[in-house]
Amino acid sequence: MADINSNEKSKALWDEIAEDWDIKMGEHDNRYHREIIRPVTLKLLDPTKGDFILDAACGNGNFSRFMAKMGVKVTAFDYSPKMIAYAKERCRDWLGSIDFHVADATKYDELMKLKSEKLFDKAVSNMAIMDISDIEPLLMAVYALLKTGGIFVFSSIHPCFQTPDMLKFTEINDYTGESFVRSGIKTYEYITPKTHIVTALARNGKQVLHYHRPLNVILNMCFKTGFILDGIEEPIFKKSDGDAGFEWFEIPPCVIFRLRKL
Ligand SMILES: C[S@@+](CC[C@H](N)C(=O)[O-])C[C@H]1O[C@@H](n2cnc3c(N)ncnc32)[C@H](O)[C@@H]1O
Repeated sequence: MADINSNEKSKALWDEIAEDWDIKMGEHDNRYHREIIRPVTLKLLDPTKGDFILDAACGNGNFSRFMAKMGVKVTAFDYSPKMIAYAKERCRDWLGSIDFHVADATKYDELMKLKSEKLFDKAVSNMAIMDISDIEPLLMAVYALLKTGGIFVFSSIHPCFQTPDMLKFTEINDYTGESFVRSGIKTYEYITPKTHIVTALARNGKQVLHYHRPLNVILNMCFKTGFILDGIEEPIFKKSDGDAGFEWFEIPPCVIFRLRKL
């Protein structure tokens, strides 16, 4: 059983699964990223040629590379040295446009070392907030590193639906006399922040820690830092896409926020 109170433990677990994560995401990401995270993040972030963008908790660097191909200058970091090694390998042809660093999002001083003579136009963090043990230092550092008017777009598993211990169920409804099968979610724990263990890679059952926070905790921390919220999306899979592993058609599996520094 993992020591669930330890950021170091969390880092060790990510470092341990870095190779499998890199294989899983490959060159083109998984369906989750391709169909809902990437398109909606691109809509909110609007990366534009010449932008200078920070990619926080960048994993194997796929989104950094995607932005580099659009003419964006990227600084990207992750706290797992192995993940960064895989990112550099995946992005070997784009290292002129992407500057990779090993840095811990929970350590404000480490993040401030990413500062160059130019402030960032934008910042992004895809599907990592729930993996970060303390998001306050990250929010504070991103705020300090962004230019005025700059935006921070970040996504998370949806804290209202992907709660600790949630159960997915499928039931037969014959209430109207016409029976049909439908799926839903039972949730038991929402309001109290909680660290819990999740399976990161279904293929081999490897685990990481998740830091569940209700919406008010996430957003109030953003507001306390000085950000305003000026965009939010709750993307879902399209029915025509076929099996999404679960029927995430009416219930959004993730939420994407856009913060702005005024
Ligand atoms: C679910 S993965 C997402 C990776 C990438 N953003 C993507 O969308 O493919 C979460 C990432 O967060 C990183 N991470 C978790 N806690 C972190 C921290 N405190 N500082 C930096 N990176 C962290 C992990 O190493 C992992 O690469």
